[in-house]
Amino acid sequence: MFSVDAFVRTMLSPRHGSTKPGSVIWGVGYGTVVKAGKNRVYKVGSRVSGVMQVATLAFATKSLMVQPMLVLPGVKPSLTLGLMGNSGLAAYFGMFFAPVKGPRKGETVVVSAAAGSVGSIAEQMAKLSGARVVGIVRGSVKKHFLLEELKLNAAIDYKDSKNTLDEQLDEACPDGIDFLFDDVGGETLDAVLERINTAARIVIYRAISRYDTGTMYEKDGVRGPSNYVKLAERNASMSGFTVAYFVSFPRMHGR
Ligand SMILES: NC(=O)c1ccc[n+]([C@@H]2O[C@H](COP(=O)([O-])OP(=O)(O)OC[C@H]3O[C@@H](n4cnc5c(N)ncnc54)[C@H](OP(=O)(O)O)[C@@H]3O)[C@@H](O)[C@H]2O)c1
Repeated sequence: MFSVDAFVRTMLSPRHGSTKPGSVIWGVGYGTVVKAGKNRVYKVGSRVSGVMQVATLAFATKSLMVQPMLVLPGVKPSLTLGLMGNSGLAAYFGMFFAPVKGPRKGETVVVSAAAGSVGSIAEQMAKLSGARVVGIVRGSVKKHFLLEELKLNAAIDYKDSKNTLDEQLDEACPDGIDFLFDDVGGETLDAVLERINTAARIVIYRAISRYDTGTMYEKDGVRGPSNYVKLAERNASMSGFTVAYFVSFPRMHGR
């Protein structure tokens, strides 16, 4: 079984270079070993999960990226691909390990791409930390989901025809912004930077607003945030992360 993750699209970009045209794409999934290699790293019949070729039959070599599958009692295996897999790990490591300091009680946390697989988990973690959480999405249906299902404190529709993103941010974050979990970049990132408080943390895990422009990996395609000087003015920090790095983190630290 495979998860259709957003990162598959980035790997198709010629500049990323991971998936060549005509070759089998890669994804996060799990399967059963049907034939063991010379070194018999995995037993026939055992289950493995990780990053592998999206195919009926795929090669799995022993690496940090492919591991014996974790089977938890009472947990549907498919959950290990979403909530308890790539998306859940991205939310967890991105909220609590990538920044200098995770969200704190009473702080205002903004999450962009807030109804997405990663964002919707990340903001629930921020809520559990006691923060005030504001999500940015497109359209009233997603806004309703954030407010009614996920119980966020406020939701912003960045495509709203009546109120600009700046106006909505001012209304939703009257005390400024302490933490941004950002998958969007571009104007959204600039608008949030304009409103950050002292010691704010900005966590970047992608820039999805650049995907459709086709310029994600062009040398001159992605402009940095024009408001980055706010980081200096507010003693703030900006960090990025990849799940792949943090997946190896517990091993490196013997945890
Ligand atoms: N760094 C890492 O290790 C890591 C790990 C996992 C995922 N990721 C990245 O995280 C991102 C989200 O992954 P996901 O699985 O949550 O994806 P997803 O479920 O497809 O959600 C992505 C969201 O992005 C929003 N979006 C699309 N185009 C946009 C645009 N032009 N401007 C603003 N928002 C836009 C969409 O929401 P709206 O309709 O509300 O705009 C969509 O819900 C992807 O870019 C993925 O590559 C990174």
